[in-house]
Amino acid sequence: MKALEVKNLSFKYLIGKEKVFENLSLSINKGELVAIIGRNGSGKTTLCNLLRGFIPHLTQGDLEGDILLYDDSILKMDLSDLSDKIGYIFQNPFIQISGIKETVYEEIGFGLENLGVPRDEMIRRIEEIIKLLKIEDLKDKHPAELSGGQRQRVAIASILAMDPEILIIDEPTSQLDPKGTEEIFEIIKILKEQNKTIILVEHKIDLIAEYADRVILLNDKNIVFDGTTSEILSKEDVMSYGTNLPQIAKLGIEYNNKVEKLSKIPSVLEEAVEVFKDKV
Ligand SMILES: Nc1ncnc2c1ncn2[C@@H]1O[C@H](COP(=O)(O)OP(=O)(O)O)[C@@H](O)[C@H]1O
Ligand SMILES: [Mg+2]
Repeated sequence: MKALEVKNLSFKYLIGKEKVFENLSLSINKGELVAIIGRNGSGKTTLCNLLRGFIPHLTQGDLEGDILLYDDSILKMDLSDLSDKIGYIFQNPFIQISGIKETVYEEIGFGLENLGVPRDEMIRRIEEIIKLLKIEDLKDKHPAELSGGQRQRVAIASILAMDPEILIIDEPTSQLDPKGTEEIFEIIKILKEQNKTIILVEHKIDLIAEYADRVILLNDKNIVFDGTTSEILSKEDVMSYGTNLPQIAKLGIEYNNKVEKLSKIPSVLEEAVEVFKDKV
């Protein structure tokens, strides 16, 4: 089942000289974790903002084509209906905290409070999210005393408390250290197990290789590659679009080109073990 579908989309920002997308089409299935990659300026954030309706509802431009959320055009939907269904998490964990709540517990309830969710229901949801994300140790802390990684986890918790079906996550770890990054990916893994539909923009390609079901590479106003993670992240060509490949894939390509042909270029460790098992 398609959760989101982009049909023949062209878009130019009001103040932009060039189009960001020209005749772009893609669809995202329910329960899929799709990674969007591509060099700086290739339109990853713009695509996120189009998929959540922020463009054209709040940022205008010239738009042709359509974007469907479960078969309804999001161009015609209310932004408030859209934000019930699509949660958005972005790179700066500091901006995403309200700044007016005294504890993480209350912070997680902030969005629910604004929605007018009854108190009992609110408490139930907050407790559930805290347990799910394993952030019991943070719940009585003041949001201002948290590290970047902890804030990002709390920001994700506040979004999840609203129970969106779809999550759009734009470079959630770009300002985090390796430990913070790992914690965010542990959460992403939990969300995936919950069968959420996830669109993830991320530069850490080894993590994409490990977690994503599918990879879409953007370049020059359109999609260059769209396929399973193992198919796309084993292509040498990917590197000519300003994107890295997983370490394992780079080693595999090197071996394939200089030593002997491999049955497949591996993109994760398990694939490498499979490919090399007869060679050692
Ligand atoms: N609000 C905006 N107004 C005008 N141009 C923008 C705006 N946001 C991004 N752009 C331009 O659109 C293009 C795509 O940007 P962006 O979607 O941010 O790419 P990415 O997230 O892949 O780095 C870039 O050329 C950028 O300069
Ligand atoms: Mg961006």
